[in-house]
Amino acid sequence: MYNSKIIGLGKYVPENVVTNNDLSKLMETSDEWIQERTGIKERRWVKEGDGDTTATMGVKAAKVAIERAGIDKDEIDFIIFATLSPDMYFPGPGVQVQHALDIKTVGALDVRNQCSGFVYALSVADNFIKTGMYKNVLVIGSELHSHGLDKTTRGRGVSVIFGDGAGAAVLTREEDTSKGILSTHLHSQGEHAEELVVKAPGMGTRWVTDILEDDDKDDESYFPHMNGQFVFKNAVVRFSEVIMEGLMTNKLKKEDIDMLIPHQANLRIAQFIQKKFELSDDQVYNNIMRYGNTTAASIPIALTEAWEEGKVKEGDTVVLAAFGSGFTWGSVIIKW
Ligand code: UT7
Repeated sequence: MYNSKIIGLGKYVPENVVTNNDLSKLMETSDEWIQERTGIKERRWVKEGDGDTTATMGVKAAKVAIERAGIDKDEIDFIIFATLSPDMYFPGPGVQVQHALDIKTVGALDVRNQCSGFVYALSVADNFIKTGMYKNVLVIGSELHSHGLDKTTRGRGVSVIFGDGAGAAVLTREEDTSKGILSTHLHSQGEHAEELVVKAPGMGTRWVTDILEDDDKDDESYFPHMNGQFVFKNAVVRFSEVIMEGLMTNKLKKEDIDMLIPHQANLRIAQFIQKKFELSDDQVYNNIMRYGNTTAASIPIALTEAWEEGKVKEGDTVVLAAFGSGFTWGSVIIKW
């Protein structure tokens, strides 16, 4: 048995900054409301014509991660791509990355676990490496939300939250099993699937021929729906549980956490978890103020920035945790 460890991190966010005041020109909202309820000041939204897609942003983040890993692209044995906003209904973006990076014909897996997508993807990568099946795995989380949001007052409860961007990590084999990813913990509770959902296009919803005939501009099933308060209440409980589960599995205490990187869903959720685990401001990394919620991309973007800023160092105990649509949630405990 081996462990896996992260040897390269990268991120890419579109240049176009959209402030809360910009949004208040599109819908009835305000900088004050958005900052107070979410902590978000601005987000990046791909601008018409600049060519970024979920796949291309993922590729840009991956290139940085591979370069920093110091390996050749052809040493990558497997690609995992987490997103809820793929360029196409199928195939998923994993194969687009394989093609764009001109990597030999390795496997490409697409993960569909929304805000928990990167944590799920890391868990898959870790286990492929642990069993010895693969040595180097490229894991990407990327989202292009802005093309899919209802940017009118009807959609304001959701559209002010989400941002575009991508993050990537290269994982490799670690022979010392006291280092690297120590454990991953995954959960789901499908009874709440419709509390945070985009229903269409879905074969379970309607016949494609009916959709084409309807051309119904008021059809809300293509836009995200979220029961915000219900999601919030579940998030704070599940974040805490799954972090605790990870700590206990490794016989660690909350005092052992050097850096917690929570999925960037809402600054108030992160602050609640910080308080619960008695962590200082320096022990929790937040960048939701600048990027909003980038779902599967949020943890790899935050982890990349924390690493770039020297806040994640060798020997640190790093905890990643996520909760979101599904519901799905999970954590990763890393000895860096
Ligand atoms: O990443 C996946 C997991 N996601 C989460 O964890 C998100 C969890 N939920 C949340 O972060 C919060 O519930 C939200 C930020 C989405 C909403 O905050 P809230 O404090 O729960 O507000 P609310 O939904 O209860 O809405 C309060 C009021 C409502 O008006 P009334 O009914 O009180 O008159 C909304 O219509 O705020 C109104 N509202 C807005 N007002 C201005 C909703 N969205 C907006 C907006 N601007 N953008």
